[in-house]
Amino acid sequence: MQRATTAVTAGRPPGPGATLNTPPVFASTFRDGGEIGYGRTDNPTWQALEASVAALEGGALPGGAGAVAFGSGQAATAAVLAGLPAGARVLGPAVGYLGTRGLLADLAADGALDVELVDVTDTEAVRAALTGPEHVDLLWLESPTNPLLEIADVPALCAAARSAGTVTVVDNTFATPLRQRPLELGADLVVHSATKFIGGHSDLLLGIVVAADPDRVAALRARRSSTGAVPGVSEAFLALRGLRTLDVRLTRAEASAGELARRLAEHPAVDRVRYPGLAEGRSAHRLAAQADGPGAVLAFEVGGADGRAAGERVLAALTLIVPATSLGGVESTLDLRVRWPGEDPGRPGLLRLSVGLEDVEDLWQDLAAALRTALPGTAADAAAPSRTAADAAAGPLTGTAA
Ligand SMILES: Cc1ncc(COP(=O)(O)O)c(C=O)c1O
Repeated sequence: MQRATTAVTAGRPPGPGATLNTPPVFASTFRDGGEIGYGRTDNPTWQALEASVAALEGGALPGGAGAVAFGSGQAATAAVLAGLPAGARVLGPAVGYLGTRGLLADLAADGALDVELVDVTDTEAVRAALTGPEHVDLLWLESPTNPLLEIADVPALCAAARSAGTVTVVDNTFATPLRQRPLELGADLVVHSATKFIGGHSDLLLGIVVAADPDRVAALRARRSSTGAVPGVSEAFLALRGLRTLDVRLTRAEASAGELARRLAEHPAVDRVRYPGLAEGRSAHRLAAQADGPGAVLAFEVGGADGRAAGERVLAALTLIVPATSLGGVESTLDLRVRWPGEDPGRPGLLRLSVGLEDVEDLWQDLAAALRTALPGTAADAAAPSRTAADAAAGPLTGTAA
C-alpha cells in the first residue's frame, strides 16, 4: 500500500457499522475489566493516532513500529532524554531546533547529561566523536535542520552509531514520514513535533516518539503515564484528522516551496537561499538517497551585515504571509530567526519561510513586494504600511521559538 493511502486508512475503526473517522473519546476513567482503566495510561483516540504514525514510519519494517503521543514535541524530546542514565553522554546537533538545544544545555548545566554539540552534516566529525575515548550513549540528529535546512547523512550516521553501541534519535518534524523514514535508515527512535505538518492547521500542540523496539515503546508509554506528559484527547483527534490530509497538503506546499525557492534565488535582495530542493553536491546526493522530497520549509538571507534591519522591513511589509514562528500549517509564515535569543547572531538576515497552501502567485507577489524593502539603500520607513506591520513591529519577541 502506498503511504498516501496508509495516511488515510491506518488506525481506522474496523467492522460493519463502524464510523469512518475515529471519534474523540473524552474519558478519564474506564470501567474495570477492559484494556484501559485510567485515562493517563491510554486512550482510544491516542491509539488511533499512534497506530497511523507507526504504520507510516515503520510499516515497511519486518516487525513494524510503535508510536507514543505526548503533550508536545518538546515533551516527546524530554521523554526520550529522561530515559538516559544519569550523566549519560549525548552528541547533539550544533544547528538544530532551539528548544532541543536549550533542553540539552539545561540538562548539562544540571549535571544530568554530558552534552557535546557536533556539526551533524560533517559525517567524519560525528564518527570521530562516536569513537572517541568516552562512550556516547545517544546521538541526536535533525535532518533537514531547523532553521538552516542542512542535510545530514542519516544512514551513515546511524550505522556509525550502531557500531559504537550508541542509540540514534532523528527529529523528523520537517520531513514527515511521507518524505523520510529514519527507522528504515537505521535510527532507533524518531521524534515528531506533530504541532507542525502532521497537525497542519496551527491549532494544536502534540509530540510523538516512534520506535521499532517494543521495549523502547513500552518504556516511553510508562514514562508518559508516570510523568503525566499526556496529549489532550482533542489534540490527538485533530492531529489524526490532520494526518489524513498530510499527503495532499505536503505535495502542494512542497511544489510551491520549490517555485518560491527558485524565484528567491534570482531576486537581487536575496543573498542566499537554503532549500534542500536547490541543494547541490553532497546535500543533493544525501537527499536523493534518504528522502522522497525536499519538504515545504526554506530559509533565505537578506541585507548582509545589516540583515536584521532588512529582515524586520521584510516582515513589516508582508500583507499575506504571516510574521510568526512555527511552521507546517496551511498558512505561510515567515520568521526572522535572529530575533530569538540563542539563534546564531552571525546570520542576522536569516528568514525562515514555511510555505502553506495559498496560491503560489499570491505568495510570490507578497514576497517580491516585501523584498523590495530589503534592497540596499532602502530606507526603513519606505516599507508600505500593511495589515501585518503592527504584528511585526510588536517589539522584541518573548516566549518560545518554534
Ligand atoms: C524540529 C522541531 N522539533 C521539535 C519542536 C518542538 O515541538 P513543540 O513546539 O510541539 O513542542 C519544534 C518546534 O518548533 C521543532 O521545530
